[in-house]
Amino acid sequence: MKLTDEIKSGPSAESTAPGHQELEYAYFEGQYVPFNDAKLSIRNPAFLYGTSLFEGIRGYWVPETRQISIFRMKEHYQRLLNNSKLFYMTPDLSLEDLCDITVELIKRNKPSTDMYIRPTLYKTGESITPTLENIPSDFCLWTKPLGEYLDLSKGLSVCVSNWRRVPDNSIPARAKAGGAYMNTALAVTDARKMGFDDAIFLTNEGTVSEGSAMNLFLVKDGQLVTPSKTEDILEGITRDTIITLGLNELGVDTVERTIDRTELYHADEAFFCGTGAQISPITHIDNRPVGDGTPGKLTRRIQDLYFDVVKSKLPQYEHWCTVVQV
Ligand SMILES: Cc1ncc(COP(=O)(O)O)c(C=O)c1O
Repeated sequence: MKLTDEIKSGPSAESTAPGHQELEYAYFEGQYVPFNDAKLSIRNPAFLYGTSLFEGIRGYWVPETRQISIFRMKEHYQRLLNNSKLFYMTPDLSLEDLCDITVELIKRNKPSTDMYIRPTLYKTGESITPTLENIPSDFCLWTKPLGEYLDLSKGLSVCVSNWRRVPDNSIPARAKAGGAYMNTALAVTDARKMGFDDAIFLTNEGTVSEGSAMNLFLVKDGQLVTPSKTEDILEGITRDTIITLGLNELGVDTVERTIDRTELYHADEAFFCGTGAQISPITHIDNRPVGDGTPGKLTRRIQDLYFDVVKSKLPQYEHWCTVVQV
């Protein structure tokens, strides 16, 4: 299976609609400014050392009501705030402030398509010392149109990466730190150069961790299985969503545990999940078919349920969606 044409054709093609940057706003240095005016110095420490923390949030366009449904915004900002303590980046903004800024930016940008929302906490100033303490931090936010990040329909052909996931004692994967994405970039680049769509990381110990920028689930004997939170993964919000929906809506338990590499080849079904990846079926791992080599039945049910939930169509999960009239 191949990536969507948008992704294959280059890094600027992630969106399904043009990003009219000259008309868009960003939140930068405490103000809403035209996107093209939000610029950092080449001496910025986050640029030099990767000292930033970020989130990726999705807003789903609901054409019938001309609304954007932002999925689990509070949980994303709570994760950012939790990580900010570890990296001495706690902003002068509360959870409510961060949510309000996001809603306001969306209202100003008036999107009419599915969108990606990218908040970043970053080190600023001009110090050349790669330290975290006593270096000022700031918060910025931008949005852009975003369609499918991976092919959701046909299924992905992925490999186990030769690169190992960054261990918690090196750069914690659960922090979503900018610099850690060099690890992701190595795995994705090599996987694609070898003709795969994406990659699965193992931990330094050789057990299964996660995808390049998404969490991983297997289906075995009717149960969902996913690497536990101590397997150098990002504690994904979509992962949590799947565990909840599996249990509440489908009566399927998720086992969170250590997974051996060879279990990947024995799985009945497999899929990636994440804000970007959404629910992406995996049909081949290291050239071996997963199950019968087509997207699995349970994967499809979860995918359908997920899209109803994120578009705020199921009343019992409306509390996960912040609906913005644009
Ligand atoms: C490394 C990594 N793992 C997992 C995920 C999935 O996390 P979430 O569901 O919170 O988007 C992401 C981000 O999308 C990621 O970058």
